[in-house]
Amino acid sequence: MKEISDPKQPAWTIPGYLEIRNNHLHISGADAEALADRFDTPLFVFSAPRIRANIARLLQAAAHHARLKLCYASKANNLLGVLRVVRDSGIDVEVNSGGELFRAIRAGFAPEQIEMNGIAKSEQEIAEAISAGIYAINLDSPFELELVERVAERLNRRANVTVRLIAGVGTRSHIGLQTALNTSKFGISPLEARRVMLRAVKNSHLVNLAGVHIHVGSQTPDVDPYLQAFTAMWEHLLWLHSETGHRLSHINIGGGIPVNYLRDRAQAAEIGEGPRTMLAAQLTAAEMIDATAGAVRASAREAGAEGLLDELEIVMEPGRSVIADAGTLLTRVRNEKFRPETGENWLLTDAGYNLMLSMVMYQWYYHAVNASRAAVPHVARYKMAGPLCDGGDVYFDLHGEGRLPDHRLLPGDVKVGEVIAMLNTGAYTAAQMTAYNGRPMPAAVMIDDDGSVEVIRRRDSYEDLLLNET
Ligand SMILES: Cc1ncc(COP(=O)(O)O)c(C=O)c1O
Repeated sequence: MKEISDPKQPAWTIPGYLEIRNNHLHISGADAEALADRFDTPLFVFSAPRIRANIARLLQAAAHHARLKLCYASKANNLLGVLRVVRDSGIDVEVNSGGELFRAIRAGFAPEQIEMNGIAKSEQEIAEAISAGIYAINLDSPFELELVERVAERLNRRANVTVRLIAGVGTRSHIGLQTALNTSKFGISPLEARRVMLRAVKNSHLVNLAGVHIHVGSQTPDVDPYLQAFTAMWEHLLWLHSETGHRLSHINIGGGIPVNYLRDRAQAAEIGEGPRTMLAAQLTAAEMIDATAGAVRASAREAGAEGLLDELEIVMEPGRSVIADAGTLLTRVRNEKFRPETGENWLLTDAGYNLMLSMVMYQWYYHAVNASRAAVPHVARYKMAGPLCDGGDVYFDLHGEGRLPDHRLLPGDVKVGEVIAMLNTGAYTAAQMTAYNGRPMPAAVMIDDDGSVEVIRRRDSYEDLLLNET
């Protein structure tokens, strides 16, 4: 289901969620400038109703596939306050490390709701996962199977495992976000995967081979890579069944359902075609699930193996599509300057790549809105940059390769102290933030239906900067 904006409002608005009232941006009913005054900036603002709505949309997409398990990819944002809202919405969770497993358990997820990825898991992390009795540990190499077996033997507990398959599937996402290419660091190649599966079946007293997993990458704009991945998994499942009689209990098709970062297209033309297509992706979970499950059903019918398909749980690991547009980063303009040589106005904010790493790593576009004067036409051009003592800490493409707009559009005459909202900053932002330059990491608040505001992360103090230093 695609969201419709009010044509009389800027295209970034979302009725009932991101709105303009009295010239101020409101987030689920809370005045963004008032939040900035009360909690200071930079400030992450999350909306519980928006998280719930995103999850409801995913569940709805899955409704006509009886056995679908949604595991929120907590790497996208693993704040406890976010995890609790996700858990209360009725879905499960994917973790990527012992630390994320710890967070998921602390947030109240039951072991059977948790599955674990990870490309260099330590023996300790594997032991923690096996002891907890989680739904699946996704194996990333033949070596890792041996390691899991060893730990399972030592703990005298059988481990649930899934083989993470690399099927040479490319996507039209940023190369850094593609994870199923033969050249990527993830997973097990098809030939190796068969060897691993046979060994796991042979050692069934130590491991329960529960499934196959493929994650094609993040922000995947098309359905084709999913089709290829699903087909590859299905082939492995059939092969394993014919070779050994072993029946897998799930197929995991990973995450990657995209978010449209260019709902407001005011600056879309200033972004090169490749990144623009990726950032404006509109593929929905429903389209993806219908196409992939449909294709496998057809091939199952052909192979006379529909029974196998009906037994399967289909697992998905959505991250970005749950949390990206449920988060807004509020930042204040702290400095301004004019360069007569270039005729450009600069705005220096208190949020840099220490809070939006993807902006410099992948030239990610986050739409900027003046929260203090949201109804004023955004037609003046500014060079924008963060506060870090690093020339790369800018909101434009430093290499001049057109992957981001050179300037940001805001109202004319922006003054120091005004609050700028960076939209769609819920995913892969707070989860990656650092205290670089001795900048205390910011607070985060969760807004709920009744406009109530809960601090889910307090702002670091200077003392916190020294935590763990001896
Ligand atoms: C294994 C795995 N699953 C799920 C995800 C979540 O992807 P997304 O946030 O694009 O849904 C990722 C992120 O790349 C991942 O590595």
